Amino acid sequence: MLVVIKRDYEEVSREGARILAGAIRANPKIVLGLATGSTPLGLYRALIAFHDDGDLDFSGIKSFNLDEYLGLPPSHPQSFHHFMAQNFFSHVNVPRDHIHIPDGTITGDYDEYCARYERSIKAAGGIDLQILGIGRNGHIGFNEPTSSLASRTRLKALSRETIEDNRHFFASTGQMPKCAITMGIGTILESRRVLLLASGRSKAAAVAKAIEGPITSSVSASALQMHPDVTFIIDEEAAYSLTQRDYYRHVLEMTQIFTPERLS
Ligand code: PGA
Repeated sequence: MLVVIKRDYEEVSREGARILAGAIRANPKIVLGLATGSTPLGLYRALIAFHDDGDLDFSGIKSFNLDEYLGLPPSHPQSFHHFMAQNFFSHVNVPRDHIHIPDGTITGDYDEYCARYERSIKAAGGIDLQILGIGRNGHIGFNEPTSSLASRTRLKALSRETIEDNRHFFASTGQMPKCAITMGIGTILESRRVLLLASGRSKAAAVAKAIEGPITSSVSASALQMHPDVTFIIDEEAAYSLTQRDYYRHVLEMTQIFTPERLS
């Protein structure tokens, strides 16, 4: 696990974009796992800037988003379909049929729909690089505390904390969805490489538990300790509660000298 501590949100976004752009240039047919939320916005802005400069071509990539609110159609301003279109896809050249986001409007056989989402990830060759944020409660995707560490894409009831964190985006609490479709922790762990971005003091406790705490379903992100290629890119505020910051800096210096490809 690499822990990269940057000064602030801007630096986190720039570093995430540098790694992601490098991965796309190295493999123009890369399969990306993408996230929504306020955290990756700066990353998307930086990628769009590379694209605008003619430096980054998305025409060969495929993408799979982590999650979507149940009940929201793509046109809903708070749907993750809408978020991705507004903040990323409408600005870059990912072909429409290469974009996959769980459908929040499905009804009926949720398990069959979610199994199909999993199959489409496999058919694409699996996710090469997964971008993650982290919730205050340690969730990744919408894998709320006590999610099985082996979970797959499924319908998931949102936790009180997640509803509290997101209800201000909706006109009233009643309109905030109570469930989502989310990739599972098992799905995320199968991606070849994971980049988790976090910024701000409100994330410090979750980040510390994820990196230094025990592996537990109470903190979904702690499952990443079992993944062989995870990089946390976090700012000073989000790193606040880590006890081994000096060691992470040392690891980074040694990585830059001996295995710099892990940072490219
Ligand atoms: P945020 O959400 O990026 O809006 O903080 C992260 C998450 O809940 O996973």
